[in-house]
Amino acid sequence: MGGEKERLLAEVSSARERFEREAGSVSLVAEIDALRIRYLGRKGLIADFFSRLAQLPPQDRPVVGKAINDLRAYVSAEIDRLRATAASQARAEVVFDPTLPGTRWERGRFHPLLQVLDEIVDIFTSMGFSVETGPEIETDYYNFEALNIPPNHPSRDLQDTFYLEGPHLLRTHTSPVQIRSMEKQRPPVRMIAPGRCFRKDTPDATHSPMFHQVEGLWVDKGVTFAHLKGVILAFAQKLFGKDVRIRFRPSFFPFTEPSAEYDFSCIMCKGAGCRICKNTGWLEISGAGMVDPAVFGFVDYDPEEYTGYAFGMGVERIAMLKYQIGDIRLFYDNDLRFLSQF
Ligand code: PHE
Repeated sequence: MGGEKERLLAEVSSARERFEREAGSVSLVAEIDALRIRYLGRKGLIADFFSRLAQLPPQDRPVVGKAINDLRAYVSAEIDRLRATAASQARAEVVFDPTLPGTRWERGRFHPLLQVLDEIVDIFTSMGFSVETGPEIETDYYNFEALNIPPNHPSRDLQDTFYLEGPHLLRTHTSPVQIRSMEKQRPPVRMIAPGRCFRKDTPDATHSPMFHQVEGLWVDKGVTFAHLKGVILAFAQKLFGKDVRIRFRPSFFPFTEPSAEYDFSCIMCKGAGCRICKNTGWLEISGAGMVDPAVFGFVDYDPEEYTGYAFGMGVERIAMLKYQIGDIRLFYDNDLRFLSQF
């Protein structure tokens, strides 16, 4: 019986040597699996060692049992390692397999808002406007005071404006860039200012606390409201086609006098009346007007010498009309199912 213990120990150690040799000559996943089954399988070599272990006298079992356990641990670690190597090699080979279909790369695209913004900017630069920018964190002076917005004006309300520390706030419109541009240069000034604006609005289908505007400003000798109408009409027709008509309605802004809101004839129904224009035939775009002489006072332009017009527009609003999007929040959800349609 003592002979069986030694025999088993010798077989375990020669099994390990054999495994080392065999492991050195396999590379395919199928070969590695066959090796694993031969050693670790339910009817494999190691299972056979364990059943022979059970027949040894109890005092011999610990030593032989440990030898078999060591062998099993070694073999299974080696099998894992071989498999990992084989898998990464297989992956590497796939790259060079000319018979496999190629990897399809997703094509990136511009956000629909950016596309519309680019289009707006292109139209105005083609008409000779320069592109100016200003900070999104503004001061009370540029956002309100220099635009002739008095201290008690409702747009200064805490409920409408995001105030930061000290005189700082998140700009509620792009109009402060008018002031910054006029401060930097003498007339003629002919600029647009695209950018982000912020208002404390509760998000719904047509409101977002962050949105985009494009500001326009032209100051020179002899600039009139007729020039304003001309440039807005040219813009509308470049954006939405020759048939678009425009209209101005009297309105009020502290920084323009006279002030107006301007509309485009409905691009869906051509003015006949539909759901989009709420049966009015017109789409409200934004505000505009002749620069108020009080504003010129803040930038030291002589209102006797110069006149100017200014206008705003909402980029989201225009994008929603152009693409018939019913909910402004879709622009900010980052849902690829939406974004990849543009
Ligand atoms: N700043 C105004 C707004 O945000 C729009 C506007 C711009 C009106 C320029 C007149 C002139 O509503």
